[in-house]
Amino acid sequence: MSAPIIAPSILAADFANLQRDIEMLNESQADWIHVDVMDGVFVPNISFGQPVVEAVYKHAKKPLDVHLMIQDPDRYLAAFRNAGAANISVHYEACNHLHRTLQAIKALDCKAGVAVNPHTNVQLLEDTIKDIDLVIIMSVNPGFGGQSFIENTYKKVRQLKEIIVENEASTLIEIDGGVNAHNAPALLEAGADVLVAGSFVFKSVDSVGTIAELKGINL
Ligand code: DX5
Ligand code: ZN
Repeated sequence: MSAPIIAPSILAADFANLQRDIEMLNESQADWIHVDVMDGVFVPNISFGQPVVEAVYKHAKKPLDVHLMIQDPDRYLAAFRNAGAANISVHYEACNHLHRTLQAIKALDCKAGVAVNPHTNVQLLEDTIKDIDLVIIMSVNPGFGGQSFIENTYKKVRQLKEIIVENEASTLIEIDGGVNAHNAPALLEAGADVLVAGSFVFKSVDSVGTIAELKGINL
């Protein structure tokens, strides 16, 4: 099995020292930088918008993996592409016309992702799986960092992996929320390709070492 893609979430970074934290990620084994955008409507919290993403992009040497936790994301796809997003993920629950939204993201030359909340059955993605570059399985309820991992996630990863294989799709499975060195091996074993980690990376005393630890998990 190949090494996982590691995407530290800057939601847990020090916003007053964002440049310093981005430079730390540049020097680390992180593959992507996960950027959580929250609108206070789709989720009960507000994080930051495109001006901050643009500022992060100026210093980042890794692709920005933008996770839009916003209602009707179609309104902002181009804005986040212009701010520097490489991947744009929208929530299944926030889109009326998911297939159209995925095409719109691809037309902007971004990788198209779909995030599913803990209550959303991954079978609902079966009809669009070939159009999805990555699925973010939320392993916490979106809105906040530092929450505990929901154990039902393993089952969802296995189910989604089956759908991907059956449809001969090349979709990546990304896990977001409460990821740490304890649950990461079982997630990779179940079929995950990408691990997002906020608190586990940024609250550790040696963030670069913690990223290396996640990257180095071999099954
Ligand atoms: C939650 C966000 C996550 C969050 C993960 O709504 O989508 O990306 O930053 O943080 P941790 O790893 O602390 O659960
Ligand atoms: Zn996220």
